[in-house]
Amino acid sequence: MTAKAYDSIKPIIWQNDTLQLLDQRLLPVEHIYLTLNDVNEVAHAITDMVVRGAPAIGITAAYGIVIAARKRFLENPDNWRQAIEEDLQMLARSRPTAVNLFWAIDLMREVIKGLAVADPVATLLAIAKQIHEDDIAANVTMGKLGAQLIEEKCAVLTHCNAGALATGGYGTALGVIRSAFKLDKISHVYADETRPWLQGARLTAWEMVQDNIPVSLLVEGAAAHMIKTSQASDKPIRWVIVGSDRIASNGDVANKIGTYALAVLARHHGIKFMVAAPTTTIDMNITCGGDIPIEERSSDEVLNFSSMQVAATGAQARNPAFDVTPAELVDAIVTEKGVVLKPDLDKIKALMSHVARARSL
Ligand code: MRU
Repeated sequence: MTAKAYDSIKPIIWQNDTLQLLDQRLLPVEHIYLTLNDVNEVAHAITDMVVRGAPAIGITAAYGIVIAARKRFLENPDNWRQAIEEDLQMLARSRPTAVNLFWAIDLMREVIKGLAVADPVATLLAIAKQIHEDDIAANVTMGKLGAQLIEEKCAVLTHCNAGALATGGYGTALGVIRSAFKLDKISHVYADETRPWLQGARLTAWEMVQDNIPVSLLVEGAAAHMIKTSQASDKPIRWVIVGSDRIASNGDVANKIGTYALAVLARHHGIKFMVAAPTTTIDMNITCGGDIPIEERSSDEVLNFSSMQVAATGAQARNPAFDVTPAELVDAIVTEKGVVLKPDLDKIKALMSHVARARSL
C-alpha cells in the first residue's frame, strides 16, 4: 500500500473539535474542506453528496453524533440521551441504501445507552475515531485478499467510486486495485464515468492519477464493447471490481446503478465479478436484494447536467441511485474477515458468525 493513499486522500477529518469534510461535489477541480459544527449540517452533507460512499457515510454519521451529543449534553445534562434520539433519527433519514449508516448509528446508540461517565463526548469521540480507523484497516486487509484472487496480469473495470473518498481511506474496490497494481497484477483500470454524479470521472479517475495507476474513463454504454474487444488486446479486462452499499444475507449486492448490468456483462463474457466491502456492509436482517431500499434521487439530476438543462422541457426522468446484483452473478465477495466465493446464505452466515457485533472499548 502506498503511504500516499493514506496520507493524501482524506475525505473525513476530525480536527480542532470539528468535523471537516472534503467537498466531493467540487472534485477534482477544487479541494475544499467544509467545517461542520452542527448535526443538521452533517445530515445535509450526507444527503447532498458532500460526502458519499457507504463506509464514508457511516463514519461521518458517527462524528455527527459526537457533535450532537456535545450540544445536547450542554443543553440538558440530565436528559440528553432522550433528546439526542431526534438527531439519530434525522441522520438515519439522510440516505436510505447504504447500511453502514444505520450500522454506525445503531452502534453509537448502544454506546449512548450504556454510558456511565459524566461527560459522554470524549467516549463517543473515541468510538467514532475507532470506527474510522477500523474501516481503513479493513480496506487494507481487503486489498490484500482481493489482490490474491487476481491470478494473472490483466486490466480491470470499476464503477462509481469505491476508493479512499468513499471510505475512511484506501478504498474497498480501489483498495483491491491499489494492492493488485502494487503486485504488478493490473495493467490498466477502466472506470465508468457513472452518471449522473460522475463519481467515476471526477473521483475514481482522480484517485488513480494520484497513485500513478493508468486509468481510462468510459461512458457506461462503452463497457460491453470494451470488455468484448479487450479480450484480444494486450490489456484484456478479466475482472469487474466494485464496492457495495448493502449486501443481503443471501449474497445479493446493492451498489451504484449500473453495477447489475456489469455483472450480466461479466458473466456473458466469461470474466469475473468481485465485490469488495467490509462486513459492516452486510445486512443479516435482509433476506434478499429485493428487500433492500433503493434510493431514488431527484429527476433534476438526470434532466440537467451541471446546472444546465439537457433534456426537453416536459420530459420526465427516473433516477434510481442503486441496483441489485443477484448473488449468482457474483464470483467473490471480499471482506476484511475473509473471501466468500460464489456467495449464498450459508456462506454469508458462516462469515458473519465470526464478526463480533459489539465493540469493547
Ligand atoms: O451515491 P454514492 O456515490 O454514495 O454511491 C457510492 C457507491 O455506490 C459505492 O460504490 C459504494 O458506496 C461502495 S463505497 C466503498
